[in-house]
Amino acid sequence: MKAPGRLLFSLFFFSSVLADSGDLSGPSLNDDVLGLIVFKADVFDPHSKLASWNENDDSPCSWYGVKCEPRNNLVVELSLDGLDLSGKIGRGLLQLKSLRKLSLSRNNLTGPLNQDLTRLESLHTLDFSENALSGAIPSEFFWQCRSLRSLSLAGNHFSSEIPASVGDCLTLASLNLSSNWLSGVLPAELWSLYGLRTVDLSGNFLVGQIPKGMDRLFNLRTISLRRNGLTGSLPIDICHCFLLRFLDLSENSFSGNLPETMQRLTMLNYISLRSNNFSGEIPMWLGDLKKLQVLDLSNNGFTGPIPESIGSLQDMKKIDLSANSLSGSLPKSMANCTNLAEVNFSQNSFVGSLPSWSVGIGVQEIMISKNNLDEVIKVSAASNQTLQVLDLSWNMLTGVIPLEIERMQRIQYLNLSRNFLSGSIPATFGKLMILEVADLSSNLLTGHIPKEIGGAISLKGLNLGNNSLTGEIPYQIGNCSSLTSLILTQNNLSGSIPPTLANLSSLQTIDLSLNGLTGSIPKQLSELPHLLSFNVSHNLLSGEIPSGNFFNNIPLPALLIILTYVALQSTDRATLYFQNPLS
Ligand SMILES: *[C@@H]1O[C@H](CO)[C@@H](O)[C@H](O)[C@H]1NC(C)=O
Ligand SMILES: *[C@@H]1O[C@H](CO)[C@@H](O)[C@H](O)[C@H]1NC(C)=O
Ligand SMILES: *[C@@H]1O[C@H](CO)[C@@H](O)[C@H](O)[C@H]1NC(C)=O
Ligand SMILES: *[C@@H]1O[C@H](CO)[C@@H](O)[C@H](O)[C@H]1NC(C)=O
Ligand SMILES: *[C@@H]1O[C@H](CO)[C@@H](O)[C@H](O)[C@H]1NC(C)=O
Ligand SMILES: *[C@@H]1O[C@H](CO)[C@@H](O)[C@H](O)[C@H]1NC(C)=O
Ligand SMILES: *[C@@H]1O[C@H](CO)[C@@H](O)[C@H](O)[C@H]1NC(C)=O
Ligand SMILES: *[C@@H]1O[C@H](CO)[C@@H](O)[C@H](O)[C@H]1NC(C)=O
Ligand SMILES: *[C@@H]1O[C@H](CO)[C@@H](O)[C@H](O)[C@H]1NC(C)=O
Ligand SMILES: *[C@@H]1O[C@H](CO)[C@@H](O)[C@H](O)[C@H]1NC(C)=O
Ligand SMILES: *[C@@H]1O[C@H](CO)[C@@H](O)[C@H](O)[C@H]1NC(C)=O
Ligand SMILES: *[C@@H]1O[C@H](CO)[C@@H](O)[C@H](O)[C@H]1NC(C)=O
Repeated sequence: MKAPGRLLFSLFFFSSVLADSGDLSGPSLNDDVLGLIVFKADVFDPHSKLASWNENDDSPCSWYGVKCEPRNNLVVELSLDGLDLSGKIGRGLLQLKSLRKLSLSRNNLTGPLNQDLTRLESLHTLDFSENALSGAIPSEFFWQCRSLRSLSLAGNHFSSEIPASVGDCLTLASLNLSSNWLSGVLPAELWSLYGLRTVDLSGNFLVGQIPKGMDRLFNLRTISLRRNGLTGSLPIDICHCFLLRFLDLSENSFSGNLPETMQRLTMLNYISLRSNNFSGEIPMWLGDLKKLQVLDLSNNGFTGPIPESIGSLQDMKKIDLSANSLSGSLPKSMANCTNLAEVNFSQNSFVGSLPSWSVGIGVQEIMISKNNLDEVIKVSAASNQTLQVLDLSWNMLTGVIPLEIERMQRIQYLNLSRNFLSGSIPATFGKLMILEVADLSSNLLTGHIPKEIGGAISLKGLNLGNNSLTGEIPYQIGNCSSLTSLILTQNNLSGSIPPTLANLSSLQTIDLSLNGLTGSIPKQLSELPHLLSFNVSHNLLSGEIPSGNFFNNIPLPALLIILTYVALQSTDRATLYFQNPLS
């Protein structure tokens, strides 16, 4: 039953309905068709996804993004996510009287939030996230709220305060206002929403303290206040949210100790308090939060040792206590944390040695740089080495790099720079076949660079600078075909630059400065296609500067800096001879 001219009639009919204060008695198919067609007229649909929306259809139930209740063919759901729709959300949608779910996320819709949407009797899910909606969140929006359970306005440009009327929308279970420009304080009324399970207000400009009364939210599972300007200490009454699993207060300016009442939040599996100004010791009772999987207390002012009770957190996967003022030795009890994958204890004042759990229980990443660890590295005989990242840089480690390092068969990033490691680089180093970054710089290493280094075929970055290495640069380095950065500066290397370097076509940085290298610069190096920086200053090199690519393109003054201590015999680039040092 398609009648020409029906749209014209319908629009006329529709506008009279709107003029008529909007209350239709006896819903008919027309309301839904009309409402959707009017909505469509307000938006630009670049991919013609709404082409199936034809005003001559009797029912919209087969239209793209539309779902009907089969019983009465009324539209109950409209989902038009990620279609690049732009334009305004007009009043058409207000005609969809049976609508339960409205989702327009990830579009380019602009303009204000229509406060009347909450009047739709059955609407329980409204998702306008990731558009460019702006203006205030109107107070009226929450006043007249009927059955709204889930609201997401995340990722828009809303810029008001959070209206206190939010506390009137008692049906709300999930509120996501993250990543907007919301300012002002957290309204205490928020805590009257006793049905709330999820609150995400992260990424706004909220200030002030967390208001009292949070204990009323006994259904709360997830709360994120990350990245705002919130201050003060945590409310003592945080403790009644016994079902709380996810607590993210990171990137604010909270201060004070952790309230002891948190001890009772035993369902917690994620805590991030990163980048605040919390202080005091890490409490013993943390060991009672047995379900914890992620604990991030980094970048705060915590002091004292890590409590041994941390060992009871057997589900823990990731712990970050970096950038605090923690001290003492690393707890042995962590050997019990058999699910541990990532540990970051960098930038503290820990002493002692790397505990045996660090290589025994399946940990993948250990970062303990910038501490005072002072004992020899031991690599246990554990047959299953899972470590992929080990950063012990900037400590006071002594002794040698153990031969057993070859057991670290999964290691990809190894940083031992700025320690007091001595002895030579073990030949077994070359058995680390998937090692990508090795930084052993600024130690007291002696002896030759082992020729076996050619076995570390995945190396991208190798820094052995600022040691006391002697002997030649092994030509086998030409086997490390992924190498992009080779830094051997400040050693006592002698002999000539191996021409095999020219095989390393990914090389971008070569720094061989401050050594005792002799001979000439291999001509082949000029063929390295990605070379950005080449420093051989302070050596005993002589001869011709290769021509081609890099060497032709760097401006002469830069070339002179690279080759400091150069005695120029000609300023004609093509025949540039040099000798260093200047005698
Ligand atoms: C969304 O709108 C912005 C600004 O109007 C525009 O730059 C961008 O390309 C649009 N994105 C899409 C996916 O249409
Ligand atoms: C809130 O919405 C944003 C954007 O859609 C999303 O990334 C985030 O996960 C949501 N928060 C919660 C707690 O679901
Ligand atoms: C952090 O707290 C200390 C006192 O514990 C105070 O001196 C300092 O100003 C605070 N820093 C910030 C950024 O709030
Ligand atoms: C670690 O586990 C052992 C054996 O399972 C147990 O005796 C010890 O008390 C545990 N330590 C901690 C701190 O939980
Ligand atoms: C470890 O902690 C330091 C200091 O907070 C930080 O800079 C670094 O990014 C962290 N590393 C990882 C992998 O999270
Ligand atoms: C080694 O690890 C693999 C997989 O990670 C596991 O299946 C195997 O049981 C482990 N072997 C030992 C001896 O721990
Ligand atoms: C190794 O650690 C030092 C000090 O923490 C850092 O400066 C350096 O960039 C790291 N090296 C690499 C290759 O990441
Ligand atoms: C070389 O290593 C020493 C000792 O670790 C350190 O003090 C010095 O700053 C390092 N020099 C450079 C240029 O890195
Ligand atoms: C060079 O790499 C190959 C694999 O690409 C390896 O078989 C060989 O042993 C390496 N040579 C040296 C000298 O390490
Ligand atoms: C390295 O060379 C310098 C001078 O070139 C010398 O003083 C120093 O003793 C040498 N070091 C080693 C370990 O050979
Ligand atoms: C590596 O370089 C050497 C010397 O320049 C050359 O003889 C050899 O063929 C090169 N090997 C590869 C695989 O390119
Ligand atoms: C080259 O190396 C020397 C010695 O390490 C250093 O002083 C100089 O700044 C380096 N030049 C460039 C351009 O990196």
